[in-house]
Amino acid sequence: MAEWFVSWFESEEYLNVYKHRDEKEARQLVESIISITNIKNKSKILDLACGAGRHSIEFAKKGFLLTAVDLSENLLNNAKGNAINAEVSIDFIRADIRDFCIDNKFDLALNLFTSFGYFESDEENFKVFKTAYNHLNKNGFFVFDYFNKKHLEENLIPNSSLRIEGGEIIQKRRIENGRVIKNIIIKKNGYEKHFKESVKIYSLDEIKSILEMTKFKVKDIYGSFDKSKFDENISDRIIILAEK
Ligand SMILES: C[S@@+](CC[C@H](N)C(=O)[O-])C[C@H]1O[C@@H](n2cnc3c(N)ncnc32)[C@H](O)[C@@H]1O
Repeated sequence: MAEWFVSWFESEEYLNVYKHRDEKEARQLVESIISITNIKNKSKILDLACGAGRHSIEFAKKGFLLTAVDLSENLLNNAKGNAINAEVSIDFIRADIRDFCIDNKFDLALNLFTSFGYFESDEENFKVFKTAYNHLNKNGFFVFDYFNKKHLEENLIPNSSLRIEGGEIIQKRRIENGRVIKNIIIKKNGYEKHFKESVKIYSLDEIKSILEMTKFKVKDIYGSFDKSKFDENISDRIIILAEK
């Protein structure tokens, strides 16, 4: 059986469940990233796990040069269509971010919206930091966006349901063995489909120490897409600015 992140992100349903994670939200984070990195126009950016391309497209619209990588053929096809509609040119590559390697260096690498912690072993999970590091120019930046462990643990909603045309989406969440597990049940027009997410929960200290072991310098930590400073008690996100 395929691993959960292959079946789920390859499915038609993923973009429906995360409809609210849209261009508007991406635009806000992109503005924040430009402001915290001070990155110059026409700089080269590598988006690791680009999904349907919402951040890459916003950057490309602003004149940055994008290479965007993802494993999901379905999401990459969506991304390509979105880029055409937005009249931007992006180099999309289908690859696994654990062992992605091209002969090109970038000024900024991204791993956004919890595209991390999917694999069983820590070693595999942390490979994406190495991928980012290896593809950066000296003094290039890495922006990493993940959930805040404390906020997640205190605010987990065990069950939720969303009405959609012809049915409903049910989501059941729990924390088990250091991972946040979500079961997604889609009932639509008489059929029922089941998907799963399983993401390893890392603390900020764990992430920081692995970034530093990868030789990154952690420059700053933000707590939301609007670049407010990280506060463990209130922030929902951990957004790390690291430099090679
Ligand atoms: C939560 S989505 C985020 C997508 C995008 N960054 C966004 O903000 O919309 C996670 C993405 O990681 C991709 N992904 C999962 N495992 C991957 C892997 N091993 N290599 C490359 N991409 C992967 C999925 O296909 C999906 O597009």
